[in-house]
Amino acid sequence: MKTQVCIIGGGPSGLLLSQLLHLKGIDTVVLERQSREYVLGRIRAGVLEHGFAALMREAQCGERMDREGEIHEGFFIADHGALKRVDLHKYSGGSSVVVYGQTELTKDLYEARDRLRGQVIHNAEDVQPHDLKSAHPYVTYRNGDEIVRIDCDYVIGADGFHGVSRKSIPKDVLREYEKVYPFGWLGVLSRTPPVSPELVYARHERGFALCSLRSQVLSRYYIQVPLSDSVEDWSDEAFWSELKRRLPAEVAARLVTGPSIEKSIAPLRSFVAEPMRYSNLFLAGDAAHIVPPTGARGLNSAASDIYYLYHALVAHYQRGDDRGLDGYSAKALARVWKAQRFSWWMTTLLHTFPDSLDYDRQLQQTELDYLFSSEAAQRSLAENYVGLPF
Ligand code: APR
Ligand code: PHB
Repeated sequence: MKTQVCIIGGGPSGLLLSQLLHLKGIDTVVLERQSREYVLGRIRAGVLEHGFAALMREAQCGERMDREGEIHEGFFIADHGALKRVDLHKYSGGSSVVVYGQTELTKDLYEARDRLRGQVIHNAEDVQPHDLKSAHPYVTYRNGDEIVRIDCDYVIGADGFHGVSRKSIPKDVLREYEKVYPFGWLGVLSRTPPVSPELVYARHERGFALCSLRSQVLSRYYIQVPLSDSVEDWSDEAFWSELKRRLPAEVAARLVTGPSIEKSIAPLRSFVAEPMRYSNLFLAGDAAHIVPPTGARGLNSAASDIYYLYHALVAHYQRGDDRGLDGYSAKALARVWKAQRFSWWMTTLLHTFPDSLDYDRQLQQTELDYLFSSEAAQRSLAENYVGLPF
């Protein structure tokens, strides 16, 4: 097989780039290790910054997102019983975020690829990039007993944190920065009306909690748990009762509980790999960086990678201009690190750290007091939460 851009990974990053390039007449093949059912069965976060939403529209995939997604112009921070609102709209100069599940967004991207007869190959086993330093790289994968070879100009590594692409960069070239947090998030999805029309991020000495939603009939809640906990340790009753204890009384009193339809624990990690380009391989999204979910930056951190790569590849193919490709890694990393900073800040602000000193807790409290006493601090929070410019 032959294509111009071979994309490894059929998550939101790979699919969105494939769709955007297709609309500019650039040929792509997407190789996904899992089946489509598996990819669409994963429950992921649900807050899109407006830049990501704009890219979805440009990719002609924004119709259902615009119809079913909710525009949120603020969220709440609860601090041991006190509920305070962050006015995103006011402090970001009129911007907002879209609450729309990543699972739904991925479904829309697959449908768009199908509509244009884009090539998305599922169950591609043993995907491996080759000859990345030559002008003729290629990617192989296994389909049963058959090894298939795809010749291309460029390889995009959009295969998430556990993918093969980052591992193809020699160890003496790649530098990895990592911070693992000493807790995880236990998440529950339930077919119940959300407790609040806007998200509630709750700080509590028993641990952080988050009230989020997918729609007016589908709620998503999280509580901070020790890394040693497993899902089996948490019955639905235990989850609801712990969540209530961490929320302000007025919020807890409104909480409608019900059976969980998904329950999982995710560890919290910050991670960046540099550089994001190695010769003819370009990394994008979770393949190159991970953030803890507290600032809702995961998918949004991928958005700028896709935006820069899309424009760089179009400039290359339409005008022979390689400046975007040459500058990709530095440009993408500059924004990636800002999303890292914000996610780390919000995680540190709101979680209970098992080994924290009294001093650390006083600082945490002071940071929150400062936030709500300073318009400048709220402006900074809002600017980062709605997404820094690309
Ligand atoms: N070969 C082919 N595909 C692979 C391989 C491989 N060796 N390894 C992983 N994949 C696939 C995974 O199955 C997955 O579907 O690559 C895809 C990567 O998708 P994501 O992990 O969703 O990463 P990305 O598309 O960058 O999305 C950004 O933002 O909200 C966050 O973590 C969340 O997934 C989200 C991410
Ligand atoms: C979610 O809805 O899953 C969600 C929302 C906001 C976050 C993290 C997760 O910060």
